[in-house]
Amino acid sequence: MRLRSVELEVTDSAAAVEFMRDVWGLFPAGRRSRTTYLRGTGDHPYLLALTEAPAPAISSVTFTGSAGELDALHARIVAATVPAPARVAEFDDPGGGGGFTVRGAEGQPYRFVTEGVRAEPLADRDKPIQLTHVVLNALGRDACAKFAIDALGFKLADRTRIMTFVRCNRSHHALAFVDAEMSSLNHIAFEMTGIDAVMKNIGRLRDLGLQPAWGPGRHGPGNNVFAYFITPFGASMEYTAEVQQVDDSYRVGAPEDWKWPPNRIDHWGVSSRDNARLGEAERTFRFRAASA
Ligand SMILES: [Fe+2]
Repeated sequence: MRLRSVELEVTDSAAAVEFMRDVWGLFPAGRRSRTTYLRGTGDHPYLLALTEAPAPAISSVTFTGSAGELDALHARIVAATVPAPARVAEFDDPGGGGGFTVRGAEGQPYRFVTEGVRAEPLADRDKPIQLTHVVLNALGRDACAKFAIDALGFKLADRTRIMTFVRCNRSHHALAFVDAEMSSLNHIAFEMTGIDAVMKNIGRLRDLGLQPAWGPGRHGPGNNVFAYFITPFGASMEYTAEVQQVDDSYRVGAPEDWKWPPNRIDHWGVSSRDNARLGEAERTFRFRAASA
């Protein structure tokens, strides 16, 4: 299974699309009615869908897999005594594919879609390749992680004092849950070709007057290089690279394994974190109600 895309609702989609394309570095991938799709250089048909709406919301976090993987997952969900998700024969998104949406412990909309024809990769080494993880704020982190593991078949990757990381392939985490006072989107991470691409994009955004809200630095769990920016439409987005690849021999860390020395919040010890800006962004995108 692979993390494919995030579908967001925004109040000014034209401005959001312009930012994500012209500043962040994504590429046009089609339109449907009120929704614009943007892709990276990798083989996913799109990474981000932006839909015009009265208020910001996160509509879904989408994963893709083979028809067999989706059938097995559907059976697993039912066996976990979660109501059987309704199947959709074909989603009207670039790339097509059928599948289903299942709600997590706090209403998180996880969508699973069969992988169709892969997009032709693009050659630009300085632009985002694909998404590598989505972090969600959780009221009850343990229950959210348990749902991802028991019902969705993710594997526990690491636990810190405030976060739980889970994976669905060899990449250290595709989802993570962080202790918070609400259920919402924390941030979306875009995988870059390497540390040079992360640093060059920090420089390029600084030239445009945008400062990182956190970073550059190197994380503990996942060991990835990072730089977070707050987009003008209020979402926290991360450029990241060198995400640790793990397998079943990986020793899952516990909170006592992930303690920083005083005044240290990343491996390099050079990053500062704008908690006010990040906190505001992390309260902006709530989960769209199932009935909406
Ligand atoms: Fe991240």
